[in-house]
Amino acid sequence: MTLNVKIDEIRTKFLKQLKDAKTSKEIEKLKVFYLGKKGSLQDLMQFLKTATSEERPLFGKKINDLKIEITSHLENTLKRLLLDEENIKLKSENIDITLPGRRHFWGRYHPVTLMMNNMIDVLVSMGFSVETGPDIDSDFYNFEGLNFSKDHPARDMQDTFYISDDLLLRTHTSNVQVRTMEKFKPPIRAIAPGKCFRNETISARSHVFFHQIELFYIDENVSFSDLFSTMDEFLTKLFKKEVKTRFRPSYFPFVEPGMECDVECFICSGQGCRVCKDSGWLEVFGAGMIHPEVLKSGGIDPEKYSGYAAGIGVERLAMLLYGINDIRYFTQNDLRFLKQFNL
Ligand code: DAH
Repeated sequence: MTLNVKIDEIRTKFLKQLKDAKTSKEIEKLKVFYLGKKGSLQDLMQFLKTATSEERPLFGKKINDLKIEITSHLENTLKRLLLDEENIKLKSENIDITLPGRRHFWGRYHPVTLMMNNMIDVLVSMGFSVETGPDIDSDFYNFEGLNFSKDHPARDMQDTFYISDDLLLRTHTSNVQVRTMEKFKPPIRAIAPGKCFRNETISARSHVFFHQIELFYIDENVSFSDLFSTMDEFLTKLFKKEVKTRFRPSYFPFVEPGMECDVECFICSGQGCRVCKDSGWLEVFGAGMIHPEVLKSGGIDPEKYSGYAAGIGVERLAMLLYGINDIRYFTQNDLRFLKQFNL
């Protein structure tokens, strides 16, 4: 067989195999088969060995031309197939960015926190600064300094969890009053939000654990009418509408005179229900003019200064605002209940 015939044979076979190759892997195989150390082109070298010295350069060129031809075919086809394969891969891994994402549940605020933050926002906008006091406090700040003497019958009004003779879980956020008076000179216009604890029977209306915001203002010539107007403005801003209020004289050792403020029951619109004990009204805070003895406990001269104070029940207000008829829901951790509040 002559070299030319052999070259034609190899070329024909190669072109057919090239046409049939569908993957880059098959091309790699062809490359080894034709151009490898033991490949078809290497076989042609034997023609060089037997060639005359005149034939040799021509044979060499023919073999080399075939090598160049095969190499360029292989390279072009390989490039094309690799590109196709890459496109197929990309398509299969395609991310559809128009798909809506999956929502993560990040949790939400507890309704009491929502209510508390709301109340704080309103009061801060009215010029009150925020003060805090400890949940575990001494008898002095919770009782004695607020004009409850050791054997004062009013202590029975506040069933207390005692830790020791002198330490207790604060029964109200009024414990922040004297602390703040010790810290600042009048004028003092402050609120104290926080947790309170009482050893009470748990019912739809009362709980052993609840929240209050104490509010007080001490300056020269503070009067009862300042208290009324402040509380009216506070409630109107908070509920974003005029609310019906009712003030009744009441007794708290740390104020004189003292009173309680009721808001018309939102749940039954004053008709009477379980929450308002059929009265049509809900007691939301106690208030009054700060007792001279309390001012003295805080080192403030009652001859020169006067002040008002109020203690607002956060759960009570949240119940009004959201129409909740049982205070126990707040501490039952039932997500069906808790998820309803998005302020
Ligand atoms: N500390 C009282 C309570 O927990 C609420 C209260 C009543 C606070 C009258 C006041 C006030 O500041 O003047 O029942």
